Amino acid sequence: MSSGTSTTFAFEPNGLPVDGEERARRLVGPVFGRVFTDHMAVIRYSEAKGWHDAKVTARAPVTMDPAASVLHYAQEIFEGMKAYSRPDGGAALFRPDANARRFNASARRMAMPELPEALFRESVHALVRADAAWIPQDEDGALYLRPFMFASEVFLGVKPSAEYLYMVIASSVGAYFKGGAPAVSLWVTREYTRAAPGGTGAAKCGGNYATSLVAQAEATRNGCDQVVFLDAVERRWVEELGGMNIFFVFDDGSMVTPPLTGTILPGITRDSILTLARDQGISVREEPYSIEQWRADAESGRLTEAFACGTAAVVTAIGSVASAEGRFTIGGQSAGPLTQRIRAMLVEIQRGQAPDPYGWIERVI
Ligand code: PLP
Ligand code: COI
Repeated sequence: MSSGTSTTFAFEPNGLPVDGEERARRLVGPVFGRVFTDHMAVIRYSEAKGWHDAKVTARAPVTMDPAASVLHYAQEIFEGMKAYSRPDGGAALFRPDANARRFNASARRMAMPELPEALFRESVHALVRADAAWIPQDEDGALYLRPFMFASEVFLGVKPSAEYLYMVIASSVGAYFKGGAPAVSLWVTREYTRAAPGGTGAAKCGGNYATSLVAQAEATRNGCDQVVFLDAVERRWVEELGGMNIFFVFDDGSMVTPPLTGTILPGITRDSILTLARDQGISVREEPYSIEQWRADAESGRLTEAFACGTAAVVTAIGSVASAEGRFTIGGQSAGPLTQRIRAMLVEIQRGQAPDPYGWIERVI
């Protein structure tokens, strides 16, 4: 376990914070991404000055020139991570170093400047310290942190911006799926793909989510919770969901997850599950798995469970899969034993209810 420090961030406390009673009211059953805290972290970048003016300040709207290049050419990246309250009353982050590295990998792909990892971590620490009172204390509660960076140069030429704004905002969240759904339903889109080889699938850029929305709408129209994407070349290999990675569980106790070939997001939850499962002696293969095989295995009973995973969704069972070709169900359409076991192992480490043998936890307070 390591602890972070913050020395470089000026702190301008919000003079009009939400009062305690109102905050307590907002922390009851928050809808994901609707409840925000009192502060935000900001760092500016310009080619001339590099990273400068780091501060934590009152959360407020951003004023932008209509020619700010992000509004036209979408140079924008983000991260998603959570701060959890600890049994001793403190707060901790889960693998913030991994988020910092992925943020910079996304920055390189989008021709944006990298943010020194120490600054990324300090920005998150400083914001969590300022807004720790906003961490919900209930079982699924956490403070969801959203670091992001966008091109702010006022210029319509198509080139990497010379100026950027990096910010972190925080949102008090509970379970991502309403009512902590026992299992979610997926829609396999045949019409749309998320990422092609050489594209931006492995980067966490806003554009990937923009293009997923029409497919997600198709899923919703068909009565499903989430869309699942197939590969863009052969249109048969399962890649990932709109905002989560995917695992398949078989009757011999082994698991499969799609490999990181550049078209899916390298999830930190995915990586953590690979480590946890392998250390438990569970065989996990990172190999392509086709939609036809998925259906055949679910129907024969060879596939017993499937689950989605990500920071927001944690580990969520997949109950059914629908597409233009029909629908099939998985196991008992609720979280099976291995899904439950993996989820418990992960959550207990994240929340400080189990030892942290991998050094994944970083104390903030
Ligand atoms: N895949 C996509 C497209 C995502 O948006 C996310 C969420 O961040 C994930 C996978 C899971 O990544 P992580 O476990 O790092 O949150
Ligand atoms: C996350 O899990 O952090 C995500 O980014 C998923 C979604 C909310 C975009």
